[in-house]
Amino acid sequence: MDIVLFLMLLLQGIFMLVISVLGLISIYFMINSGFMRTPPPVPSSGKIKTTMLQDVEKILSKRKNQVVMDLGSGWGTLLLPLAKKFPQHRFIGVEHGFLPCWISKLRARKMNNITFLRQDFFNTDISKADVIFLFLMTKLMNKIAAKCQSETRKGTLIYANRFPMKSIKPERKVSLGSKFYTYYVYKM
Ligand SMILES: C[S@@+](CC[C@H](N)C(=O)[O-])C[C@H]1O[C@@H](n2cnc3c(N)ncnc32)[C@H](O)[C@@H]1O
Repeated sequence: MDIVLFLMLLLQGIFMLVISVLGLISIYFMINSGFMRTPPPVPSSGKIKTTMLQDVEKILSKRKNQVVMDLGSGWGTLLLPLAKKFPQHRFIGVEHGFLPCWISKLRARKMNNITFLRQDFFNTDISKADVIFLFLMTKLMNKIAAKCQSETRKGTLIYANRFPMKSIKPERKVSLGSKFYTYYVYKM
């Protein structure tokens, strides 16, 4: 009986610990993402991710020494598979969240063609980028559009998942069903 009681208390303790850890992680993300002022580290996923990556892979396989950037790289979801497939190109992820950036660095530790910078992408030099990924909320997309227009070189391709840059006309809009499954390609 004593053992049963002990096990029940132990289970209750573990349950409380898990709930507390989950609570702390949620609070961390809320603070880190500025309470909806900046997007949470939700990764590109599903068919939109697959199609966008296939699109970029076609370009990378035809070119040499490309620089691919992801501004707000989250967990490294887009750059890591590309960097693995294209060791001849350079990949730079910029992420201000401590945890997603740290996990990305950890996942990239055995690769030498990819770097994750923990910084605000508004302070990042994007002038050497050939391809840029963006998956940010509307307000940020409009703000980053001004930076892209003034700092990228001619011909830079920008892939924007779901949220367009309203001030720039896309070269292509790829819709895979609804506006949630849409990405926009810009040629600067
Ligand atoms: C929706 S996630 C996209 C992740 C990744 N690009 C993808 O498509 O899988 C947006 C990321 O942008 C990051 N972010 C937002 N504002 C930022 C800023 N000013 N500087 C750096 N990262 C930023 C957030 O922390 C978040 O991880």
